[in-house]
Amino acid sequence: AENVGILAIDIYFPPACVQQEALEAHDGVSKGKYTIGLGQDCMSFCTEVEDVISMSLTVVTSLLEKYGIDPKQIGRLEVGSETVIDKSKSIKTFLMQIFEKYGNTDIEGVDSTNACYGGTAALLNCVNWVESNSWDGRYGLVVCTDSAVYAEGPARPTGGAAAIAMLIGPDAPISFESKLRGSHMAHAYDFYKPNLASEYPVVDGKLSQTCYLMALDSCYKHFCHKYEKFEGKQFSLSDAESFVFHSPYNKLVQKSFARLLFNDFLRNPSSMDEIAKEKLGPFAALSGDESYQSRDLEKASQLVAKPLYDEKVQPTTLIPKQVGNMYTASLYAAFASLIHNKHSTLAGKRVVLFSYGSGLTATMFSLRLRDSQHPFSLSNIARVMDVDGKLKSRHEFLPEKLVETLKLMEHRYGAKEFVTSKDSSLLSPGTFYLTEVDSMYRRFYAKK
Ligand code: ACO
Repeated sequence: AENVGILAIDIYFPPACVQQEALEAHDGVSKGKYTIGLGQDCMSFCTEVEDVISMSLTVVTSLLEKYGIDPKQIGRLEVGSETVIDKSKSIKTFLMQIFEKYGNTDIEGVDSTNACYGGTAALLNCVNWVESNSWDGRYGLVVCTDSAVYAEGPARPTGGAAAIAMLIGPDAPISFESKLRGSHMAHAYDFYKPNLASEYPVVDGKLSQTCYLMALDSCYKHFCHKYEKFEGKQFSLSDAESFVFHSPYNKLVQKSFARLLFNDFLRNPSSMDEIAKEKLGPFAALSGDESYQSRDLEKASQLVAKPLYDEKVQPTTLIPKQVGNMYTASLYAAFASLIHNKHSTLAGKRVVLFSYGSGLTATMFSLRLRDSQHPFSLSNIARVMDVDGKLKSRHEFLPEKLVETLKLMEHRYGAKEFVTSKDSSLLSPGTFYLTEVDSMYRRFYAKK
């Protein structure tokens, strides 16, 4: 199979949202901390009728319908999620309800879990499958679905929720440059979920930021090394049209891109203009550890990187800033933002993505965008996703509603024998929602 990659994408995020500015006031933090400090505008959240299973049912059904895909044509289905609802039964098996109806039970794949990285593991599995000898000619389907919720405190404004589905096959408008991948995997306790009775993670915020940036440096080094090996020349930021990052909050994305620019400077100072050399020169001798701690370097590199950031990163930030951290879906929501904003000018261009999951696992990989036939074209993907329409039709709640919902969910998580309000008034037609969990913990969903 040639040009294996992403043929089609759809995205779903819950209609309930809260403005970060309102959260700042509610939480009593200084004005601008969440909007400028974290760089976030708004945050979507699941009300008591939505969860990772309902969102993934919604997005898979919608993708199949909108691109006219026969459910029998799916041969592999992989889910990435870190929102564990059942320690044994995968989310993938819930999604099988869609395919069983059409007599298709011959579908490989289960769930992948490692913090925000599970979606990337699922995606690489599907791409590898289509590129392999075991491929049977049918499509792969990848689903990333998460509800990111934190205990009260500084991490709460970095929540969010969404599900993304991506159809995988040959001759794709978004094809993988499969040789160009660099990974970094290590043991760390930066963010983890050891308390199985709670949906909230244990998080060391500062450590998670450093782990993220260290993993980024390491992946970029491996990525550049492979690029040089296969392309016979040095890689730099100018070799890709856009850079897409896992986006816990926008400020970290700004810092990450600046960090890549600093890497380029260290590898090849002569490639930089005079102003960059002058601003970054003083930091050239810092050790790795010192460089992660240096606020001055952070500020200087962000300043130097600003024009390139506006060109190569800003178009990827729309959905992550509006919806928040979507864990496994975050990176792909950032990529979807790029398609939404720039679909008409991306053909022929390379886009580099960085996936990070705490604990920790990370991969940087490369995509090549191409013109291709309807319905699998960049412009049709942008049309189907209807990002503007979905953002506009959200319902804004006051922070009190978020707090009240999270309180209720603290009791509902892992619980049995309850019925939900079944209130689907906010949901658009075709959306799945949770109606009941019975005395055997079995979950039931309805479709609006
Ligand atoms: N106006 C403008 N900026 C402000 C203001 C203000 N009024 N107040 C604070 N800031 C800035 C700070 O200077 C800081 O920016 P800087 O990093 O450029 O210096 C930023 O806002 C955040 O302020 P902090 O005091 O550092 O924030 P805090 O420690 O309270 O929380 C954190 C931030 C650690 C990110 C927290 O939200 C968290 O733990 N989130 C979850 C973990 C996470 O997302 N980690 C990322 C990788 S792992 C993953 O994806 C889950």
